Amino acid sequence: MHYIRLLKSPTQSRSGKKHMLDLVFTITTDLGDSFLYPDEPINLTIHAEIPSDSDSKKKDLVDLSLRTGKLQWRSGMRVAKPSVDISRLMQLPSNSKSKVSICISTESFSARSVSDILATTAVSEEEEPAGQIMPVWITLGHAEAEVEVSTRRLYLPGTSEQEDYVELEEEIGESIARHIWDAGVIAFCAIAESWILPMPTDTEPSGLKSLKKLFAGPKPINVLELGCGVGILGGGLSAVIPRMRPPPSRRCTILMTDLEGAESRTRSNMSRLLQARRAKSSSSPPVKLLYENLDWEQGRKGEFDFETQNHRWDLVMLSDCTYNVDMLPALVETLSALHTSNMAHAAASSSSSGEASSGEQLLSTKVFLATKPRHASEEALFDLLSQEGWTELHRQTLPLPVLGAETQSVELYLYEKLQ
Ligand SMILES: C[S@@+](CC[C@H](N)C(=O)[O-])C[C@H]1O[C@@H](n2cnc3c(N)ncnc32)[C@H](O)[C@@H]1O
Repeated sequence: MHYIRLLKSPTQSRSGKKHMLDLVFTITTDLGDSFLYPDEPINLTIHAEIPSDSDSKKKDLVDLSLRTGKLQWRSGMRVAKPSVDISRLMQLPSNSKSKVSICISTESFSARSVSDILATTAVSEEEEPAGQIMPVWITLGHAEAEVEVSTRRLYLPGTSEQEDYVELEEEIGESIARHIWDAGVIAFCAIAESWILPMPTDTEPSGLKSLKKLFAGPKPINVLELGCGVGILGGGLSAVIPRMRPPPSRRCTILMTDLEGAESRTRSNMSRLLQARRAKSSSSPPVKLLYENLDWEQGRKGEFDFETQNHRWDLVMLSDCTYNVDMLPALVETLSALHTSNMAHAAASSSSSGEASSGEQLLSTKVFLATKPRHASEEALFDLLSQEGWTELHRQTLPLPVLGAETQSVELYLYEKLQ
């Protein structure tokens, strides 16, 4: 997949009487190492989403005109620097102006929704699906204040509602840290679709079916995410769980974890998700979303902070965390240390209730892992998991076409470790 990425915060300028917004962006893969190189030029569009005058819940879409007329991305390009006329937006009352969102997108191959993205991962014998390009959004905000973050939106399946999307912020600039990555996006989309849309059980992949069963059971469920990044998987699931069909009747706790440097952006996204959830429903949300730092170098020694230590984890999940082979031993040993902590919780709860603990639920730990294989050396992961006593329960491979390049793939695994 390719992503439109802002390289600099947008700035405002004047051109005669016109108010212009100057943008600098590129289109690259998730690692930022490969620019979009299309066979044919791809038309880009820039539009604004403005709160509607007639209905506060609706938004009006306005195409913004460009100084240069037409904007295209051609093979060989590394950056685009368009200026768009935002004079019309500047005339809006200030409370509407601060809510205006601007989207840079492509006319074709646009990865706007969960369904768009999954359509490209479907294996078809007749036609090779093309790769996709994810649009980027910014909010104009107040007055001249600098736009510090851009966002990604993924519209959820099964609804035509304009508002039904998951939105997460990313950092603006050249760094590839604090962004969403392919494996997280694909894993989130696959889970969201299987939970929101009723799927014939015989065609539903068995790993996704097992996950759904885990969430649909009668007891509260605790989920821990390792290396959560900006929160595509954990944060995304927190938005999807209330929409599950049928909706879960019990509480779910999702604890996202990462290195300290990731904390502020993840917390910012947690506030964003909470706000979006509150705008939709006044009833108490069935999901508690938490964050705590967890460095795998500490985790491998069983050194966990309060939240991580304090729960029994029904599911541990991670996406795109296995590309750095040097970190694989620490990561796998962290998984095993979490399993040890789980077993201690099970033993403590059975001794306090005076019963012998029994049943698969109490005596195993499950891990959902999404990865986009980038290099053969990453396969060391599977040996390490096996050496530590983790067993593969399910595996699903989704093709990921890439425009102008070879098709890649995302693999989804469900692992289990028994007592
Ligand atoms: C490629 S990003 C994936 C982020 C997110 N899971 C996603 O799919 O978008 C890898 C993440 O692993 C985290 N990470 C790397 N080394 C780590 C370590 N030693 N302990 C904890 N997290 C680590 C990084 O901070 C980063 O957020």
